Amino acid sequence: MWNTVALRSLGRLHPNATPPQLPRLQTLNHVFERKYKDLCHGKLPAHVLQNQGLKRTRDMLCCRLVSNKAKYRRCAKTYPVLDGRILSVYRHVFEENLRNSEAVIKRYSELLEMVSKGGGENAVLRHTQRNKKLFVRERLKLLLDDESFLELSPLAGLEMPYGDVPAAGCLTGIGKICGVWCVFMANDATVKGGTIYPIGVKKQLRAQEIAMQNRLLSVYLVDSGGAFLPLQSELFPDKSHGGRLFYNEAIMSAMRIPQVAVVCGSCVAGGAYVPTMAEEAVIIDKIGTLFLAGPPLVKAATGEYVSPEDLGGAKLHSEVSGCSDHFASSEKEAYECIRNVISTLNYDPLPEQVIEHDSPLYSSDELLGLAPRDYRCSLPVKLILSRLMDGSRFQEFKANYGTTLVTGFGHVQGHLVGIVANNGELTHDASLKGSHFVQLCSQRSIPILFFQNTAPHTAEPTSISQAEAQSNRLKAQASMMAAVACAAVPKITIVVGGCYGSESYVMCGRSFSPNFLFLWPNARVALVDSRHFSTVPQAGDNDCTGDESELKHLKEKLEEESSAFYSSARLWDDGVILPQNTRKVIAQCLEIVEQQKYRVVSPCQYPVIRM
Ligand code: COA
Repeated sequence: MWNTVALRSLGRLHPNATPPQLPRLQTLNHVFERKYKDLCHGKLPAHVLQNQGLKRTRDMLCCRLVSNKAKYRRCAKTYPVLDGRILSVYRHVFEENLRNSEAVIKRYSELLEMVSKGGGENAVLRHTQRNKKLFVRERLKLLLDDESFLELSPLAGLEMPYGDVPAAGCLTGIGKICGVWCVFMANDATVKGGTIYPIGVKKQLRAQEIAMQNRLLSVYLVDSGGAFLPLQSELFPDKSHGGRLFYNEAIMSAMRIPQVAVVCGSCVAGGAYVPTMAEEAVIIDKIGTLFLAGPPLVKAATGEYVSPEDLGGAKLHSEVSGCSDHFASSEKEAYECIRNVISTLNYDPLPEQVIEHDSPLYSSDELLGLAPRDYRCSLPVKLILSRLMDGSRFQEFKANYGTTLVTGFGHVQGHLVGIVANNGELTHDASLKGSHFVQLCSQRSIPILFFQNTAPHTAEPTSISQAEAQSNRLKAQASMMAAVACAAVPKITIVVGGCYGSESYVMCGRSFSPNFLFLWPNARVALVDSRHFSTVPQAGDNDCTGDESELKHLKEKLEEESSAFYSSARLWDDGVILPQNTRKVIAQCLEIVEQQKYRVVSPCQYPVIRM
């Protein structure tokens, strides 16, 4: 009656969970079945029990969840309150950090402003006036319940070797439609006709990965000329290139992750497969067209002129080819239609529970002075936590052991989380403590928040005892890496300072697949810290280390490549966020990852195949 897939869908089992969890789950099943029977007082016949079993059990789980929230709320009030006062001894560091934060945030705002204009004024005019289409951000307003959505990697695509590609030519993010969190991927046709650059492929693949990892339904707004031809070799042939988007669409459908599409512009070649692979698609009259080769190619091949409408317009695809399932006479009608389609997906919205919570006792604006300019300007991490946790309350774990890592429990807008935060070098003891704590969270199904500010590479050992200490630390860090990699709970990483070397892996860096990873604008991301990089050739160095000018050049390159914006442009993260918004972003992410607990699905191994 019960199987792993059904349990997984009910949120009892994380998608990555391994078989050893099953005995514990079976025990839980019995408890739920017994409770369910108790609930019905044994009055319902067996077949009704079976038919209604999944839904009722889901409802029970929801009730349990809400009551758990109430329980956590009560407990949270008793967690100790952190002392978040900034002592006068820290003032000068605070001021230095603040100045740096203001400078990087100014740059961040300029970049955001730039990308918000898409391909520029002329391209927007051509798009809206000549082509009579809505700008992509206007489309999102019609599609989503409200304007508040979590945009992912808006700075992706800036200063690429092939030039600036604003927002990588495609907006991605997570917003609510009919009360359900959905991933959206929307081409911006003002950026070179919405054609797909290598960075655009990477951005869309990441959005699909988020949809898969968090089981979020996906909406594609397709307005794309397909591959950006001059870069075809960088986006066509390899496994993680363009074709992977279509492969993922099939796999996601088989995973019961619904996908719907709106054809809201010219969808040529690769752009034509996205809506055709979707489970349900809407096409807009006079605006949407879909073909593998457009009229110019037909003319070149046959000498015949055929209009875009006749070759692949809305009427043709709704009435003849079947590439689209719904015909809309305007953009507005199309988004209404897609919202209706979404309401047929049997995707229950999150229960409308208002989780009461306290605000932190200290101002989030002060996080700007706590965001380290460089590693040497790091202040105690609990000062940051006191500005993010509900009521500044924190139940610390192993407070006096391995103190260069802070671990413990707290709440963010009512959500219980485990915290793992760097507070100095990740020593042997700190790593052991981290391993222990991460396993506790995994065992208790509590999402983990990593606050990363890893130490730059330490000096080479100068004695046997130092070398021994380093080996021990290596072993302990390896244990923590294993614990982090295998923890079957949602993980969210915020880089608040340095993201250096191997310690960044231990702290759930990108390669450890956190559900989300965001950077503060002051963050530095590199194998080594450029500021500790000497430009003076060391005594005994041979020729291969280069002369002073080469070292200087290397240092400058390292400096430039370490910035948060450089990282975000290349999609090494899910975006740069302002320190003051961190609490809101974390709460949104926690709600998003929690949504899968409310979805009841039955197993399915085949995608929906368009007929
Ligand atoms: N590769 C590279 N650049 C492309 C491109 C492509 N596949 N398709 C369009 N562009 C560029 C255009 O050269 C133009 O650049 P510019 O602004 O520097 O002049 C820009 O994108 C906008 O194109 P334009 O044709 O002026 O805009 P439009 O809105 O009228 O039409 C398309 C957009 C995509 C429908 C149309 O350009 C088209 O059909 N392109 C060919 C698509 C194609 O054959 N793709 C095959 C991929 S395998």
